[in-house]
This record gives sequence, structure tokens and C-alpha cells, in this order.
Amino acid sequence: MPKPIYVLNGPNLNLLGSREPHIYGTTTLDDVRGLCEARAAALGHAIVFRQTNHEGELIDWVQEARTEASAVILNPAGYGHTSIALLDALQTLAIPIIECHLSNPAAREPFRHKTYVALVAKGLVSGFGANSYVLAVEAAAGLVAAASA
Ligand code: DQA
Repeated sequence: MPKPIYVLNGPNLNLLGSREPHIYGTTTLDDVRGLCEARAAALGHAIVFRQTNHEGELIDWVQEARTEASAVILNPAGYGHTSIALLDALQTLAIPIIECHLSNPAAREPFRHKTYVALVAKGLVSGFGANSYVLAVEAAAGLVAAASA
């Protein structure tokens, strides 16, 4: 089995299910975890799934992924629009990064249109609710397979 795919989630995503459901839906983060685990398992991958409200902790996990992960799926939440420190950490990764959002930030307020993560991401999945994560798992598995072929 390859190293696990890290699925990292930034601030406020612990509130999924009750947070602005008209934007983010009613699926909880635990539901999202289950969807990711099931799709990854079907594709022969394990998942490490985490959420934090703290920028430094997110950066610690990105650094950990340098040696422990085969790919990173990242929903940076608000930090994607603001954090150069997170971008710096991501720039040290040699494995694929997939940016993932439940909503479509490009269709929302102007301050959400820029994401620093996009500078280093192989690709971005956004706007499909919890299914964005499932699509990101499929993309990550494809990239890992291509890298080891
Ligand atoms: C989000 C979009 C971001 O703009 C926002 O700050 C979030 C959630 C999403 O998944 O749609 O917290 O990343």
C-alpha cells in the first residue's frame, strides 16, 4: 500500500453541518471523513484526515506530509486566502497537492477569489459540496498511481 493521502482541513470546518448550511450544506466533517475513507479504500489508499483551527498546526501537518504522505488534499478554508506561511510550507512538498473547497470561492466575495494554495496545487476541486472531497480523492489516487508507474 502507498503512503496515506493526507486530507487536511483548516479553520471552521469542524462546524460543517451547522455552519452556513445554505453555503456549505448539512454534511458534517465526520460524514466527509467517511466519504473520503470509503472512496480511498476502494482505490487502495489509506487516508489521514485532520482538521484544525490553528494556522501553525496546519503548517506542522504539511511539514509532516513531506515524508509521511503520498499526496495532500487541502481545504485551507480562510487561510487559503491569507496565509503566505502556509504557502511556504506547501512549497516544500514534492508530492501532489490538491486544493479542495465545498463552495465555489470564485463565485463568492472578491476576497475569496485569490487563493495562495492554487500557486502550488496540481489542481483544484470546488463547488460540489462534500463531493468535492470524493473527486479530490480520485484525483489524488490517479496522481499517485501515475507517479509510481
Ligand atoms: C471554503 C471556502 C473559503 O472561502 C472559506 O473561508 C471556508 C470554506 C470551502 O470549503 O468552500 O472556510 O474553503
